Amino acid sequence: MFWLSFAAILLLAPLALRADTPGLDQEQQQRLSDRLYQTNLRGPRWTGNENQNTLTSLVAGSMNLTGLDVDTLDYTLFRWDPQWWCLSIHLTNGTTIGVPTTGYWPYSGDSGLAGVTAPVIDAGSFGLLPDQDADPSTLNLTGIQSNSSTIIFFDNPSPTHNYSDPGYRLLGTSRNIGASAIPELGNLTNPHWQSAKTLNFTLLKEMGVVGVIASWVHTSDEDAALQFLPNDGAPGSNSLYDVPALYVGNSTGEMIRGFIRNNQIASATVVLSAPSYFADTQTVLGHLNGTADTDDSILLYTHSDGPSIVEENGPIVLLTIAEYFSKDKPSINLDFVITTGHFSGHHLDESLWMAERPDIVANAKIAIACEHFGALEWKDQSSPSKSTPVYKATGKLEPMWTMANDSKASDVLHQLYLDAFTGTPDSLRMALLAPERLNGTRSMWYGVGGAGTLGRSNIPTIGIIPQPDYLWASMVDGGWSKLDIGTVVTQINVILKLVASLDAQYANGTL
Ligand SMILES: *[C@@H]1O[C@H](CO)[C@@H](O)[C@H](O)[C@H]1NC(C)=O
Ligand SMILES: *[C@@H]1O[C@H](CO)[C@@H](O)[C@H](O)[C@H]1NC(C)=O
Ligand SMILES: *[C@@H]1O[C@H](CO)[C@@H](O)[C@H](O)[C@H]1NC(C)=O
Ligand SMILES: *[C@@H]1O[C@H](CO)[C@@H](O)[C@H](O)[C@H]1NC(C)=O
Ligand SMILES: *[C@@H]1O[C@H](CO)[C@@H](O)[C@H](O)[C@H]1NC(C)=O
Ligand SMILES: *[C@@H]1O[C@H](CO)[C@@H](O)[C@H](O)[C@H]1NC(C)=O
Ligand SMILES: *[C@@H]1O[C@H](CO)[C@@H](O)[C@H](O)[C@H]1NC(C)=O
Ligand SMILES: *[C@@H]1O[C@H](CO)[C@@H](O)[C@H](O)[C@H]1NC(C)=O
Ligand SMILES: *[C@@H]1O[C@H](CO)[C@@H](O)[C@H](O)[C@H]1NC(C)=O
Ligand SMILES: *[C@@H]1O[C@H](CO)[C@@H](O)[C@H](O)[C@H]1NC(C)=O
Ligand SMILES: *[C@@H]1O[C@H](CO)[C@@H](O)[C@H](O)[C@H]1NC(C)=O
Repeated sequence: MFWLSFAAILLLAPLALRADTPGLDQEQQQRLSDRLYQTNLRGPRWTGNENQNTLTSLVAGSMNLTGLDVDTLDYTLFRWDPQWWCLSIHLTNGTTIGVPTTGYWPYSGDSGLAGVTAPVIDAGSFGLLPDQDADPSTLNLTGIQSNSSTIIFFDNPSPTHNYSDPGYRLLGTSRNIGASAIPELGNLTNPHWQSAKTLNFTLLKEMGVVGVIASWVHTSDEDAALQFLPNDGAPGSNSLYDVPALYVGNSTGEMIRGFIRNNQIASATVVLSAPSYFADTQTVLGHLNGTADTDDSILLYTHSDGPSIVEENGPIVLLTIAEYFSKDKPSINLDFVITTGHFSGHHLDESLWMAERPDIVANAKIAIACEHFGALEWKDQSSPSKSTPVYKATGKLEPMWTMANDSKASDVLHQLYLDAFTGTPDSLRMALLAPERLNGTRSMWYGVGGAGTLGRSNIPTIGIIPQPDYLWASMVDGGWSKLDIGTVVTQINVILKLVASLDAQYANGTL
């Protein structure tokens, strides 16, 4: 008796909610949770790997099953596949030591299992410009001997991002909180992934550099571990750089620097066994006809590739939204675009769909990019008992950064988006930010490739992009410990409310 009524309450409470406010019911929430868990179990979805292809075909099939018109854009890409990597230092006194790495420099090269062995020089620091972009001119390459092979070592600081600087304008926050609840606005430390630091590997190779060791700065080894950064592959579709590069943590870097200073290193061996081969991958397009018999649509947009269940949960989020509206049809059409290529080192342009399907862009009255839902905040934190920072959960959610176009044409979208946070918990901490033009340069619109293009078009656009330190990191648990499913549900409900209110305006002829 007792358990029965208890279960009935559990089941009926979300159903009762459905009547007045759009929101996922209990079954939809359970299915979302199952899909996230089972997708995570299969491992990361690197561009073109089996797990990514499994995810995109499951999402395409489920969209089809729920009544959408589904199409795919099929591509072949030259995939770089890091398999084994390690670093050895051969000291002049005859001892060889194996040193821990935090990972590899994506697309840098393929040493094979034997690795490359050469003397090591200290190239200083790969510094940052005041705008936090990479400044390759800071590297000191004078120690490279002509006509002999060299491995270069340098430290590699990550940017700090300051959304309180004039480059960004805060348009609003989730309703019940103020900017003071989001101190990260003025101090977004270690968004490692934002540091699109590009090395000219071609030039280094010409100079005789056969390997690179880069050391993290201002961050714990755990925070720096397996960051997939930077993400620039060799230009062209089937080319590969040939300077295998590894990252080490800061304390390891200090040790190596000390050895070089004291002339204690005879040579180092960099092993980065990372073959490249052609692989299939697809962009998924789902279309839901509204009831109004129109071409107009709301475009919902994300990517399907990456290292973790936080980074690439967008396809499951969009599928859940598609299923919700297939049962409760809006008057306007909905278009869902799930791109591939985000992690391809630009070997595959993830915004190709815009040229291949211009009708989707032409029909869009509004665009909404959804990424990284449910992200828990983890940061390096100082600890009284340790000299180095400790990487751990802060107990907060990552701020729900949302990029927006700061123009009158987008006012309605901004207002309805802010309204959709009515009743959300204070922990959600959404900040709506407009990248401004400053001294002729436009600040970065962060988000899934093409979101910035939409944001600067005449289509009112918002791009939701929480930016945790671990965003581009591989993790042994696939990121599961960093994901809060209750928050994914809350954030999806915000989108359901937003789409419903946009649709109400559309039906009234005011959108
Ligand atoms: C959609 O489902 C139908 C019926 O099962 C099937 O014939 C069709 O190939 C599917 N289309 C896609 C794109 O999966
Ligand atoms: C060589 O130097 C390293 C580092 O100082 C030290 O750990 C190792 O014991 C030395 N080996 C020999 C044979 O002296
Ligand atoms: C650059 O490196 C060379 C040799 O490695 C060194 O002699 C020189 O002092 C370095 N320059 C600076 C500015 O650190
Ligand atoms: C480097 O090697 C090439 C070909 O072996 C030779 O022509 C050139 O003179 C060498 N340069 C130096 C600086 O030793
Ligand atoms: C970020 O910018 C704001 C405004 O320019 C400034 O007050 C704040 O100190 C900056 N934060 C950091 C960490 O420098
Ligand atoms: C910025 O945040 C980090 C933690 O992420 C903290 O250690 C640091 O003190 C903060 N700096 C400022 C100026 O607030
Ligand atoms: C990289 O170096 C090569 C060889 O020196 C040069 O041809 C190329 O223009 C450089 N690329 C960039 C982007 O500077
Ligand atoms: C280690 O980090 C400190 C600051 O945290 C920095 O000054 C130093 O250059 C770093 N060293 C290396 C080798 O990365
Ligand atoms: C959606 O509408 C288009 C155009 O009217 C039509 O061709 C298509 O069959 C419709 N799709 C579904 C699933 O009803
Ligand atoms: C913009 O340019 C002016 C003139 O070059 C300069 O004084 C000012 O500091 C610049 N502002 C920013 C925010 O970079
Ligand atoms: C977005 O910004 C651009 C200027 O960067 C402007 O031309 C365009 O009208 C804006 N679009 C919307 C919908 O606000």
